[in-house]
Amino acid sequence: MSRNIEPARRTEKMTYAVRDVIAWAKEAAAAGKEILYLNIGDPNLFDFVTPAHIVEATVEAMRANKNGYAPSSGVQAARDAIERDNARKGITNIVHTFVTTGSSEAIDLAVAALVNPGDNILVPSPGYPLYPAVLARFDAEARPYALDEGSGWQPDLGSIRSGIDERTKALVVINPNNPTGSVTGPKVLRQLIEVALEHNLVLFSDEIYDRLVFEPDSFTATASLSEEAKIITLHGLSKVFIAPGFRLGWASISGPAGELDDYCEAIQKLERARLSANHPEQYAVAPALEGPMDYLDGVLAKLRRRRDLVVEKLNAAPGISCVEPQGAFYAFPRIDLGVSDAEFCEKVVRETGVVIVPGSGFGKLAGEGHFRLVFLPPEDVLARALDRIVDVARKIV
Ligand SMILES: Cc1ncc(COP(=O)(O)O)c(C=O)c1O
Repeated sequence: MSRNIEPARRTEKMTYAVRDVIAWAKEAAAAGKEILYLNIGDPNLFDFVTPAHIVEATVEAMRANKNGYAPSSGVQAARDAIERDNARKGITNIVHTFVTTGSSEAIDLAVAALVNPGDNILVPSPGYPLYPAVLARFDAEARPYALDEGSGWQPDLGSIRSGIDERTKALVVINPNNPTGSVTGPKVLRQLIEVALEHNLVLFSDEIYDRLVFEPDSFTATASLSEEAKIITLHGLSKVFIAPGFRLGWASISGPAGELDDYCEAIQKLERARLSANHPEQYAVAPALEGPMDYLDGVLAKLRRRRDLVVEKLNAAPGISCVEPQGAFYAFPRIDLGVSDAEFCEKVVRETGVVIVPGSGFGKLAGEGHFRLVFLPPEDVLARALDRIVDVARKIV
């Protein structure tokens, strides 16, 4: 008698395109191809290194035996540093800050404390697939709104407004954006705030790439633009501070205290239930936010050169066009080759070993007909990968 363990149906809705392409890559590797990974946004896989002072602060904390559980909301020194950093960005009305196992866990807790089954949250399409995955876990709906390629992948206000109904609880903005590299300025952010205020939505502002912008001073913290809006500002050590393996993130909730009390208490219940985030790494937060940042000049110089290479090579290719990314380390080129994005990516991965991700994995609404690539690899590797992608496009045309 078969006694199969039947998994929960909610997992059927979960796909994670970034990792799904690995199966094609494995086949290409087995066929002897050199694999070039342009699929995962992990800077440490390439020539980016965690700044020494961030590593040392963590090691020192471990040596000082800060290896027990931390307070559930995070160690005070980290929370204070986060709030000071937010104050420097103009966020003045924070009601709760909590430290988490990656910003992923902050997203998880903030969503878990907010939605009931059947509720929905508006998420950008294309956008980071963690949001739909988390919502699926709570039997809630990730309702896509379009980013408009024609305006450099800015949020489409009409699409947002038409997606809102009485079960909508929140609106997500990712700025700078994964997967498009777009940066959203104060004018559009103010429009998002207006919509959130009008419909009493929580505005999730995912700012994990905030200092990775190519135009100096082009980043604006959403919560710096409104005292009244209920905003969760998400951040962490993974990208700007080049330590994704630390699994250390955080969130600050800002807005009118009274109206957020119940929600913050619900989040704190969930924080307590999971005990704490990683402890020793929390001692790296203040040194990261308030220590030397000059390493970022080198990081940004490399990323800018790599971004330019991607845009130049892809825009010269037949049937491919690429909006210039303004931040983060992703590009989201369009393909007009008479094949689907999945077909194109499968062909590229299988035939050339260059691992890129189909755009529809980041939301069907605006992601179809595109692919995402990560421009973290050094120029020589990136140039080789781009040449192979362009070759495949040439053969299709
Ligand atoms: C937009 C965005 N938000 C959140 C995360 C998750 O980051 P963390 O490592 O802090 O969990 C990522 C990771 O790629 C991301 O791109």
